[in-house]
Formats: sequence, C-alpha cells, structure tokens
Amino acid sequence: MSAPSARPDEPAENIRLRPALEDLPAYVAGKPAADDGIHRYKVSSNESHLPPIASVREAAVAALESSHRYPDAAAQELRDALGRKHGVAPSQIALSTGSVAVSGDLVRAVVGEGDEVVHPWRSFEAYPILVGSHGGTPVPVPLTEAGEHDLAAMAAAITDRTRLVLLCTPNNPTGPSLTTEQVEEFLAAVPQDVVVAIDEAYREFHDPATVLGTAGIFRRHGNVVLLRTFSKLQGLAGLRIGYAVAHPRLARALGQVTVPFGASAPAQAAALASLEPAAAEELERRAERIRAERSRVLAGLRAQGWNLPASQGNFVYFPLGERSGEFAEFADARGLVLRAYGNDGVRATIAEEEADDRLLAIAQEWRGV
Ligand SMILES: Cc1ncc(COP(=O)(O)O)c(C=O)c1O
Repeated sequence: MSAPSARPDEPAENIRLRPALEDLPAYVAGKPAADDGIHRYKVSSNESHLPPIASVREAAVAALESSHRYPDAAAQELRDALGRKHGVAPSQIALSTGSVAVSGDLVRAVVGEGDEVVHPWRSFEAYPILVGSHGGTPVPVPLTEAGEHDLAAMAAAITDRTRLVLLCTPNNPTGPSLTTEQVEEFLAAVPQDVVVAIDEAYREFHDPATVLGTAGIFRRHGNVVLLRTFSKLQGLAGLRIGYAVAHPRLARALGQVTVPFGASAPAQAAALASLEPAAAEELERRAERIRAERSRVLAGLRAQGWNLPASQGNFVYFPLGERSGEFAEFADARGLVLRAYGNDGVRATIAEEEADDRLLAIAQEWRGV
C-alpha cells in the first residue's frame, strides 16, 4: 500500500520502516523561551546558564581554523587526558557527540533484537528511545516515592534477556543520587555478563563529600561502564561531546559501532581545554556556586511547604502529578520556562540568581492560588 504523499508533486514513498519505530516516542527537548516580549529565563534543559569559560572558548574557536580537515578520528590528545583523569588506558575512553550518543553506541554494542534493558523511570528521557530504536525492549522500573532508584525492583526485573542496566546518578529529572554501598549491593545481584552503565552527567554538581566512588566501582567490576558529558558543568552542550570509560573489550566494541569522526575538532579542543588545571579550578568554582544556589532554592521551597526530592543535580523537581502541565504554564506566563514531564512532575534548572529568585516567587504564588 502506498502512503499518501504530502504534496501532489511528491513521489509516493513506498518504503518499509522498522515496525519498532511506530510506537517510539520522539525525544522532547526542553522548551525554548517564547519570543513574545516577556523576558524569560530558560531553565528547561539543565544547561549551564554561563557560556564556556574563556580559555575553552578560545580553544574551540582556534580549532575552527582547520574545519576543512576531518578531526583526529582517534581524538588522541583528549583520550590521553581523559585516560589520565580516570586512571585508565586512553584506549578505554570512547567518545562521541554527547554522552547520549555514547549511550546509543552502548545499546548497539550489547543489545540485540528483543533483548531487554532495565532502566529507572522517570529518568533520562532518551533511555527508552535509544533502546527501542535499536530493536531492544526497554524495561522501565518505577522510582520510589522519594524519586530514587528502586534498586531491589531493578534487580528483580533482570531476566535471561537482560543485556544492559542503566543507572542514572544523580537521577534526571528527580535529583536523588546513589551511594557506593547501594551500587555495590546492586552489582552483587546482577549477573556478570549484564553490562551496568552508570550515567553521571551531573556528577560535578554532587556534594563532593558523599559522591559515588565510581573509580573504585569501575576497578572492581568488569561489567561496569561509566558515562560522562561535557554538556553540563563545562557548558559545552552545543558542541556535543561526551564519553564512556569502559573495560577493554567493551571499549573496542564501542569504537566499532560509533559514527566515525563523531567528536568534532572544536568539541575535542574545548573538552581538552576544560581539563587544564586552571580551567578545572574555575569550573569547580562554578559547581560550588550551583551547589550553594541549589541549597538556597531547596531550603526556600521547603520553607514554603513543598515536599521535594533531595536533588544532587543542577536542578530541582516538583512532583506535581496531574498539575504538572498547569504549573509549567503558570511559570511560563511569569517568565520562567520549565520542563514538564507528563503527569509526573516539573523540573527547573538551577541558574543565575535572578532566575532562581523568580522560581521561588512563582512557587510561592502557586501555593497561594
Ligand atoms: C542523565 C543524562 N545523561 C546524558 C545526558 C546527555 O548529555 P549529552 O549532552 O552529553 O548528550 C543528559 C542530558 O540532559 C542527561 O540528563
């Protein structure tokens, strides 16, 4: 049967798409700020509200000069630097256009048609899409009331078909994080041939005193892979670069399935520059400021009577259920673009003080409505 064509002069499109795509939701990006004269803060995508730091920007701009050449496919300098940072061989670093792309590589490397991937839900919206689009079966496991991973239920959801488990800590969009003990206990319950990915896109915003002991976990478990990004604290979301730290066989497989030249030269240069000691110090000061703002916002909201999950990310989450869309519209009309998640909740990114103050004022007004 031929599908109706959009315009009379377009040819009929008698192609076959994979049936799996029919039920696949499209990725919904954070809403942009409307251009209607109201000054709005866009806090809907967990981006950095600050541009890349000067030295990083300069490195990216300098790399543009050689844009007529392909980038270094091996991204050797960056992988050397990341290998040193994580105490692994450079060959154990797998790069691509954002950690979402690396997660896709991971799915392609380990998940066959009909294989299952256990993941928390709500969590990063791309997970079920990445799995479903590659022919795998997403197995979402509901979070607890407190917005935390239900690790016992996740372990119980593992079957003979499970090839991959995704952990997201701190969890986007709710914010709670996992402890080393929790992850170790969970890993003890997971068969060793099942890959466990720990997605730490927001690690730098975590209270350093209690942050997950990822390096030790990675060293102790041959089935663990780490996912990291330069999109959040480093402010390189628009350049698209992220990576995995993997054990050798998996790292090789990720290299086999990834898009060649995925990490552009400006992205590689910017990522490398952000690892320089002076840049890393400046970024740590930014992280510290976000942590302080998050505490201020959470304390303010709790004082207003809100019951919110304990976030360790650069965001806070309002579990508003069916009123989520309404709250996002309420905030939008008052100059704040939030991210609503169906009938679950609404997420707001911690940003400049004025945006955070506006969030507090809107949340207060909402409670009085
Ligand atoms: C948990 C989580 N993982 C991964 C990503 C993707 O980051 P990247 O921009 O590196 O693809 C995000 C982005 O929002 C995220 O929230």
